[in-house]
Amino acid sequence: PPRSGLSPRRRGLTATSPFLRAAAGDRPERVPVWFMRQAGRVLPEYRALRATTAMLDSCRNAEMVTEITLQPVRRFRPDAAIFFSDIVLPLAAVGVDVDIVAGVGPVVAHPIRARADLDVLRPLQPDDVQYVSTAVGMLIRELGETPLIGFAGAPFTLASYLIEGGPSRSHTRTKALMYSDPELWHDLLGRLAEITTGFLRVQVDAGADAVQLFDSWAGALNEEDYLRYVAPHSARVLAAFADDGVPRIHFGVNTGQLLGAMGAAGADVVGVDWRVPLDEAALRVGGDRAVQGNLDPATVFAPADVLAEKVRDVCRRGAAAPGHIFNFGHGVLPESDPGVLAHIVDLVHEF
Ligand code: CP3
Repeated sequence: PPRSGLSPRRRGLTATSPFLRAAAGDRPERVPVWFMRQAGRVLPEYRALRATTAMLDSCRNAEMVTEITLQPVRRFRPDAAIFFSDIVLPLAAVGVDVDIVAGVGPVVAHPIRARADLDVLRPLQPDDVQYVSTAVGMLIRELGETPLIGFAGAPFTLASYLIEGGPSRSHTRTKALMYSDPELWHDLLGRLAEITTGFLRVQVDAGADAVQLFDSWAGALNEEDYLRYVAPHSARVLAAFADDGVPRIHFGVNTGQLLGAMGAAGADVVGVDWRVPLDEAALRVGGDRAVQGNLDPATVFAPADVLAEKVRDVCRRGAAAPGHIFNFGHGVLPESDPGVLAHIVDLVHEF
C-alpha cells in the first residue's frame, strides 16, 4: 500500500482521541487509559475462546485475533485497544522453531550460540503474516473511534529468548555473547531490528494508530551497556516510523536507569514501570516527551480506598509530563478481577 503520510482515518482520530492527543504531548479533557495485556489472561470469554487452540495458532487466526482484541474494549471501554499477538510470533513466521509452552513462556528449540545459527533470521515479508494485516483491517473497522496499538518485541528482549532458549532471570548467556563477540551480537540485533521493523510495518500499513516497542528485559542492563549494545538497534526500529504519524511508545521493566536513553532512542512516549514515580520519571526522560504508566499491577488486590488513592496519585504525578497515558507498570496480573480493572478505568476518567 502507498505510504502517503496520515490516512484520513488517522487524521480524524488524532484530533479527538484522548490517547493519541496525550501521546502527542497534549492534555486532553480526560486522562486516557489502557492496560498492557488487557486482551487475554483475565477474561473468562478469552479463556473459553482459547480452550482448544494453542497460543501461536490463535495469533495466526485473524477472526480469533480480532475477537480477543475486542473483548476487553467491550468490557472496560479503555482509550485504546492493543493488537493480540506475541513478541515471538514474527520469529516463528520467518522460520525460528519457537513455541509458547503453557506456564513457561516462549521456548526456542535451537538457541543461538554461533554465527551459523543466525541464518534463519531473514527479513520478515508481509506475506509471512498475511493474517496480521487481515486482523488489523477487521479491527479498525470494528473499533470506530478507539485507536489500535500495534506492537513488537525490541531486539534485546527477542535476543534474550533466542540466546537463552527460554525465559531467563539473569540473562547470563545473553550478556556473555554480548561481551565476548560484539560482532556477532550486532549482527544478531541488526537482524532482529529488521524483523521487528517488518512486523510493525505490516501493522502500521494495515492501519494501526500507534506502536509500542516492548523491551521488557532491557532493565537488566546498565546505561552504558544499553547505549553501546542495544540502543542503536532499537533506535533504527523507532526511526523507521518517524514519518507515519503514529506515536511510538518505548517500554521496559526495571528501566529506571534507562528512561532518558529509551526516550532518546526515538520514542514519543516512554513507558515506566511502578518503581519510579511518574513525576521523577518525567524528569529523567527529559521533560520533552509523554510518559505512560505506572500503577503497580498488584494494586488491584488492595482495598478500594487504597486503590483509589493510588490511581489518583499516578494521575497527579503524570501531570508533570507533557502528556500522560495511564497504564499499569507491566501487564495485568492473571489473577486480576475484571471488575476491578473496569473500576480503574472509571477512576482515571473521573480524575
Ligand atoms: O498472557 C496472556 O495474555 C495470554 C496469552 C499469551 C501472550 N503471550 C499474549 C501476549 C501467552 C500465554 C503468552 C506467552 C508468553 N510470551 C509469555 C508467558 C506469559 C505467561 O504469563 O504465561 C511470555 C513472557 C512471552 C513473551 C512476551 N510476550 C513478552 C516479554 C511480551 C512483552 C510484554 C511483557 O509482558 O513484558 C509479550 C507480549 C504479549 N504477549 C502481548 C500479548 C497479548 C502484547 C502486549 C499486550 O497485550 O500488552
